[in-house]
This record gives sequence, structure tokens and C-alpha cells, in this order.
Amino acid sequence: MTLRMTLAASAASLCYASVAMAGPQAEVLHWWTSGGEARAVAVLQEEFAARGGTWTDMPVAGGGGDAAMTALRARVLSGNAPTAVQLKGPAIQEWYEEGVLADISAVAEAEGWEDILPASIAGHMQCEGVWCAAPVNVHRVDWVWANKAILEANDIAMPTTWEEFNAAAEKLQAAGITPLAHGGQAWQDATVFETVVLGLGGPDFFRAALIDLDTDALTSDTMKAVFDQMRVMRGFVDSNFSGRDWNLATAMVMNGEAAFQIMGDWAKGEFLAAGKVPGEDFLCASTPGDGYLYNVDSFAMFTVSGDDNIAGQQLLAELIVGENFQKVFNLNKGSIPVRSDLALDDFDSCAILSANEMTATSEAGSLLPSYAHGMALRGAQAGAITDVVTAHFNSDMSSEEAVQMLVDAVANSL
Ligand code: BGC
Repeated sequence: MTLRMTLAASAASLCYASVAMAGPQAEVLHWWTSGGEARAVAVLQEEFAARGGTWTDMPVAGGGGDAAMTALRARVLSGNAPTAVQLKGPAIQEWYEEGVLADISAVAEAEGWEDILPASIAGHMQCEGVWCAAPVNVHRVDWVWANKAILEANDIAMPTTWEEFNAAAEKLQAAGITPLAHGGQAWQDATVFETVVLGLGGPDFFRAALIDLDTDALTSDTMKAVFDQMRVMRGFVDSNFSGRDWNLATAMVMNGEAAFQIMGDWAKGEFLAAGKVPGEDFLCASTPGDGYLYNVDSFAMFTVSGDDNIAGQQLLAELIVGENFQKVFNLNKGSIPVRSDLALDDFDSCAILSANEMTATSEAGSLLPSYAHGMALRGAQAGAITDVVTAHFNSDMSSEEAVQMLVDAVANSL
């Protein structure tokens, strides 16, 4: 065969291939746009491309995913859902009930998800007996991050109680240092709030108040004490906090502009992306008190037509729970793998702490879903609570008023 004939033959076969099937396709809606997040999601894009997939990226910036969820609703209402969507917690079941999610049980069964995923995580991925989402990771929400040099220079240890936290913050403030890096966005206020509910009330109180929405718990003196602590913490943030993105708050801790941040371990992804080392440059500890607030990222596949799109969804689901992705993605993201069969040898001390405490709290009954990150409640109820938390944090509302508003808002959302 001459060179010309060979080229002609391969051009013809390429052409045939593109007519028959362009290969797996996926339009992926997610909100991973910060430095650490982008580095992590790139792992999935690379694996997808290596398997012949074409990825159409649909990033919607906005921590916590509120903007992404608004974009999703608009797309679904216009009858043009993305193929794969970062979705989690009860929102998965809510979308399934709308009849717009695909059944990915064939992939789950072929890959043996039942055996490699803890039951607590698998439950979130199932809708009326079928697998309807693929889990990515376990993020822990109740963390406090600190600039190590600042703590050392001020002779402060990582706080183990909220009194110690307040005392440390007052000492830092007296030394002219912003104690708490915070971004005044509703979901960030809610993130801090739930760690205080857990810390001051304990796991049973957290369950009663933020999962069971028990009126006695919502109106209790403990809940008043939670709002009192939120008011104290409002005094520890700088004057420019309003509207600040969470990753900019993390950067303040990193750059020595603030001492602490209370945020899930996606913050660690930012430290790592900037080359910072846990234990040397920054410190991690669970927020004061018992328990563990988990936040499992996952992808749900929307019903789409076309073999290429369906192949894309199935490939994504397979890769997401695959060993390599689980390891490399989570090393970058700051979270830990969802698979219980992966060794954590390459993970840092914060991740090991997270994994150990996840096991311990699971046994003790204090492994709890995060309300602030959409794992515990349906959207309307979580939104009603967050509105009150943020209204209180950004005004001079008393704790008594906040508690009354909270119980009314929850009642109206049911
Ligand atoms: C998500 C994380 C994300 C964070 C900040 C959380 O709700 O679970 O994956 O990094 O929001 O956007």
C-alpha cells in the first residue's frame, strides 16, 4: 500500500467512526471553580478524555452551589438538562421524584458499588430502589483551620472548647489580628452555625434541631446559646467580610491576614494548591465538641437521549467511583475517598484524622449529615433555617428573636 492509499484508508475509517458514534459525551454542570476545586475536577476531565470522552464544561461559580442549582432549574425547565450534574443529599431524591434522573444501576452493579461503599453513603445515592447518583468524596464540614505561625507568635493552642476559641480570638484581636476569616454569604454563615449547634448542643441536639426539626430543640435555651455564640463570632470578623468568597477567606489565613477559618475541608484543597503543608504552614482540628458533619459530593445523571450521551454518563459514573479517581481527586480536593477499600497512605494528617473520626463517630452514632451543605434536609427547610441564621448574623437581632423566627420559618416550610 502506498502512503497515499494508507492515508486515504485511515481518513475513511476516522470518518466512519465519527458518523457511527462520536464517542462518550458529557456536559457537566458543577461549581468547582476555585484553585483547589479546579485542580481536582481536572482529574475527572483527564480520565474522561483518556477513555475517548468529550467533556463540555458548565462551571457555575458560587461556593456551596446555590448559583449552580439555580442554573440547573433553568436548564431542566427549558427541557435541556445537562448530562451530569453535581448534586447531593435529598436534592437527588427530589429531582428523581420529578422524573428527570437516569437510572445508573447497571454501572453500579457492574462495578460492585454495594460492596465498596459504606451503607450510609450508598443510601444517599439510591432513589426508590435504583442507583441514581455516583458518590465522589466525603468532605467533613466541622473543621477549624489556622495559620500556625500566628498561633505560635501569640502563644495560642488550637481551641478544644468554644470558650477557648473565644479567649484565643479576644487575645488575637487585642494584638491587632483578625481572629476569624469569614465570607458573609448565607451558606458560609450556615456552615459556621451548624458547627456551633453541634459543638454547644452535642450530636443528639444537632439531630433533634437540624434533622428532626423538633420544636423543643429549636426553641431551647441551647439554641439561644448558639445564637449568642454566633453574635460573639460576628465580632471576630473583619469589616470587609460581606459577600467575600470562601476561598478568599482561606487565603486570608494562608497569607497571615487572619488566624482562623471555620470551613469544610475543601479549604484544605486551597492550602494544598498554594503549596502549603499541614502541620507546618497551617493546622486543622475539628471544631470544638463531639460528632462529625459529613458532606458527600456526588453526580446525578439526567435523562438525555442519544447513545453518545448515555455512554458518557455511564463512563463518568464508572470513573467517579474508580480507584484512581477516588485517590487523585481527593488528594487535591481536601476530602477523603468514599470507597472503604482504599489505603490512605498518601493522604495527609488532616485526611487521616477525618477518616478515623468518621469511623469512630459512625460507631458512636454521631456521624451526622450537614444541613448547611444540603445533606440533611430538603431544600425548602434548609433554606428557611439559613435565612434566619444569616438575618441574625447580619443584624443586631437578639437570640430570643432569632429562635422565634427560626421556629416560625421551619413551621412555614413544612
Ligand atoms: C461542596 C464542595 C465545594 C464547596 C465550596 C460544598 O458544598 O460540597 O465540593 O468545594 O461547597 O464550593
